[in-house]
Amino acid sequence: MSSTKSVLRVENLVTRFKSVERGKWVKAVDGVSIELRPGEIVGLVGESGCGKSTLGRSIVGLERPQSGRILLDDIDLSGLGGRKLRETRRAIQYVFQDPYASLNDRQTIGEAITEALVIIGIHDRTRQRRRVHELLDQVGLPDTVAERYPRELSGGQRQRVAIARSLAVEPRVLICDEPVSALDLSIRSQVMNLFLTLQKDLGVACLFIAHDLALVRQAASRVYVMYLGKIVEQGTSLDVYERPTHPYTRALLASIPSADPRIEATREVPALLGDIPSPTNPPSGCRFRTRCPSAVEACAVAEPPTVWVGPGHGAACIFAAQIRATEVVPQPEPQRLPQQLSA
Ligand SMILES: Nc1ncnc2c1ncn2[C@@H]1O[C@H](COP(=O)(O)OP(=O)(O)O)[C@@H](O)[C@H]1O
Ligand SMILES: [Mg+2]
Repeated sequence: MSSTKSVLRVENLVTRFKSVERGKWVKAVDGVSIELRPGEIVGLVGESGCGKSTLGRSIVGLERPQSGRILLDDIDLSGLGGRKLRETRRAIQYVFQDPYASLNDRQTIGEAITEALVIIGIHDRTRQRRRVHELLDQVGLPDTVAERYPRELSGGQRQRVAIARSLAVEPRVLICDEPVSALDLSIRSQVMNLFLTLQKDLGVACLFIAHDLALVRQAASRVYVMYLGKIVEQGTSLDVYERPTHPYTRALLASIPSADPRIEATREVPALLGDIPSPTNPPSGCRFRTRCPSAVEACAVAEPPTVWVGPGHGAACIFAAQIRATEVVPQPEPQRLPQQLSA
């Protein structure tokens, strides 16, 4: 796809769970391919339940995929085992939505970070202490936080600590699963800015999972849109947000309520209606067809391949080319008529 070598490549990944319905499978991730280049922040968006976390968890080994490949610097992780796999996988770290999930309440912050340092072989006390302070500084926290316990910190500070702890093992890739969703609105942008700083300063690539499209737009250079276990659209943030081509992306964007009543009144694309179908029994053909305003009979027959409508901009819809061609060019603000003409 690009000449730049990817740091992480996921090919045709499938992760299924045993369903409560006997003999059936929850197809949470059903043939997903994505890639991250070094130092790139890439968004992964889609409604709740579409498989974003399962994809992220599969990449770091918290879920076991049925098939597909995960490559780190072109090394296929499925070809590794035991210690070699653990060591290689360390380059990919997961940042949870709830920072409590990754912090032990009985450990001070300094101890938690030191534990991670020991994993990569830093045993010297002085070096450990120096590195703990360095890492806290990198995430914008003072040294004194090292002596504190997680419960003594605010949500935003805890998330910073969780990030510092992930960084301790010097990862190449962070999988950030809704890392600011649990935080107060007022501190979200501060933590978001931290991700941008880390990307710039450390060159860590980041898969940024979020259902909040506005957040992703702010941070990510490229975006994958996921629906019911599949990637339905991908492209630069500009492509996906300004020239959305899959009807799902369009509906998703239209679902963001606008503060401007004029925009609300002139909505062209209907906002997303109804609920996401069950991943145990997804619709045949295109999975979005049951909620798609443009669906025709053909959509039920075969799964639509990704149609490339621009460099790196793809949409899995049989109408992608037409949608792209008939794209409504945004009109400039209507000019107010001079008083004398409006009478
Ligand atoms: N451990 C599990 N066992 C069974 N089903 C699961 C499990 N984890 C997730 N699922 C199901 O997989 C689908 C995708 O879930 P998830 O990856 O959490 O989506 P998202 O993060 O996009 O909200 C959902 O239908 C969810 O109920
Ligand atoms: Mg999730």
